[in-house]
Amino acid sequence: MASTHDQLEAGGWAGAAWWVIVFTALTVLFIKYVICIILEAIWWKPMRIVRKMQSQGIKARPYQLLGGDFPEMMKLVKAAQSETMTTISHDIVPRILPCLGPWCASLGTSHVFWQGTAAPTLTVMDPEMVKDIMSTKSSCFHRASLEKKVLLEFIGKNILTIEDDEWTHHRRIINSTFNIEKLKGMLGAMVTSTDKMIKRWATVDQLQEDSCFEVEVCEEFYKLAMDIFSRTSFGNAHKQSKKFGRFQVELKKLVMSPSHLVWTIVIPGYRILPTPNNRHINRIKRNMNRILDEIIRVRLQRAESGKLRDYGNDLLGCLLYESEAGDHETKGRKKLSINDVIHECHALLFAGHDSTANLLTWTIMLLSLHPQWQERARKEVLEICNGKPIDDEKLRGFKILTMILQEVLRLYPAVADLTRVAVKNTTIQGWSIPEGLQVWVPILQIHRDPEQWGADALEFRPDRFAGGVSKACKNSHSYIPFSCGQRTCVGQTFAMMEAKVALSMILQRFSFQLSSKYKHGPTTKGALHPEFGMPVIFHKLTSFENKD
Ligand code: HEM
Ligand SMILES: *[C@@H]1O[C@H](CO)[C@@H](O)[C@H](O)[C@H]1NC(C)=O
Ligand SMILES: *[C@@H]1O[C@H](CO)[C@@H](O)[C@H](O)[C@H]1NC(C)=O
Repeated sequence: MASTHDQLEAGGWAGAAWWVIVFTALTVLFIKYVICIILEAIWWKPMRIVRKMQSQGIKARPYQLLGGDFPEMMKLVKAAQSETMTTISHDIVPRILPCLGPWCASLGTSHVFWQGTAAPTLTVMDPEMVKDIMSTKSSCFHRASLEKKVLLEFIGKNILTIEDDEWTHHRRIINSTFNIEKLKGMLGAMVTSTDKMIKRWATVDQLQEDSCFEVEVCEEFYKLAMDIFSRTSFGNAHKQSKKFGRFQVELKKLVMSPSHLVWTIVIPGYRILPTPNNRHINRIKRNMNRILDEIIRVRLQRAESGKLRDYGNDLLGCLLYESEAGDHETKGRKKLSINDVIHECHALLFAGHDSTANLLTWTIMLLSLHPQWQERARKEVLEICNGKPIDDEKLRGFKILTMILQEVLRLYPAVADLTRVAVKNTTIQGWSIPEGLQVWVPILQIHRDPEQWGADALEFRPDRFAGGVSKACKNSHSYIPFSCGQRTCVGQTFAMMEAKVALSMILQRFSFQLSSKYKHGPTTKGALHPEFGMPVIFHKLTSFENKD
């Protein structure tokens, strides 16, 4: 009996030993596999990509494993923006993109740098290459993954963060909500908001008898753009939707704070950890969705009770019409879910708020610095409007104002640079672009290239646009304030309309100049904006009479 027992015991041990060996071998294999995946992602593949570019004669920065050139870039930006500029110069590339000059000088205009760990990035400034990336070969490029990750966390899945077929579907719908007929219907809301803002200023005016008052226009235009967004998007629910807007501003601060960004980049899955910051972010998101949910429910109820199933003419109405709620003929077309609608509202506010507000701010600055252009714009506006309310036809008559806005967007584009990643092997302008290579388009620099714009590229000269964009520069792809190609800004006509309405109303009532308190310090934490605000002195014009 005992010997049988021993045999069993020995057999048991042998079995166990066998399992230990198999288990160890599998573990070793698994670890090797994981190590290979990691090495491939952070070392072999990026190095292959860089060698491919080097073999075509393009120089590259040496690879730093931790964050690539990111720490260096942060350091240079911090140094460049630590002080205000002593003169109001438009030569702001060294301040906003301080690495560009030195790296172009040492490595050539087309060079590879590292926009983060394992993110080899080709600097692209040639307009024909820009055209290929954004238009001709746009299916080979996606939004860069780091940017997408941050945006996804911030505003969820929507037109800004989706690609390919899904994007085409959403883009077609959003395109149609911004068609020119619908935009005309939004003019009234733009006038109402601007009027409210001007009344706010005029109250200040009544306090001082010399008709001169100072306004921090940067703040005022953020408020104005928010008010216009709320009215054009949510119609009669604009008061509720303001809360939505305020939450997004708060959310942006949290998500874009340097420490949060660093952790998001360094720790995979950092977002789901219950840190105080993450919990705060989730709370804000829940509140934002609750507000929109409520607005949408009321809208749907109203539509269902009416005979016509009218969802309203504002942006939300257009989106709901295209959603599951809409009962129109779809002929097999996919619809948006209510959740999609909510996330598209996040996207439109995010993309449209700061950008348009700052276009107005920079325009006021440039017209203050160039009183002769301010006068020309005012003359045009007074001639066309003659105290009457603005309509679509009047807007189209503003030639000088259009040139001025184009020139402002050239010198101070809200989006200073764009990054894409190649998702397929492709060629652009004879360069072979391997899958995984990022391309970086420094719009701010391209807009100042003397080759394209002439020796006065750094000067404010709206008349360069007198013959349109094609006459203003050699290659029209050197002017891309709204990007170009398939993913061009969907709100550009809306933004230009808003700017023209607001400026024409301001120009008719006031003349203005920069306050002596203004400190020139453009920065890009978000859209390109003046870090120290924009205090402006307004003088009430006596000639203006309201004839409506
Ligand atoms: C002066 C104001 C504006 C400027 C300078 C501007 C600029 C841009 C740029 C450069 C892009 C391309 C971004 C990229 O591809 O990474 C873009 C995209 C976009 N913009 Fe604007 N924008 C402005 C106003 C607006 C407004 C008012 C809205 C909406 C109400 C808007 C909605 C969008 C959307 C949804 C996209 C993404 C399009 C897509 O990916 O298909 N923008 N904008
Ligand atoms: C949306 O409109 C732009 C120009 O307004 C056009 O280039 C693009 O092809 C349209 N996209 C879709 C998906 O319809
Ligand atoms: C791209 O080309 C490389 C060789 O140059 C090849 O190894 C790789 O598989 C290709 N990638 C794709 C996605 O086709």
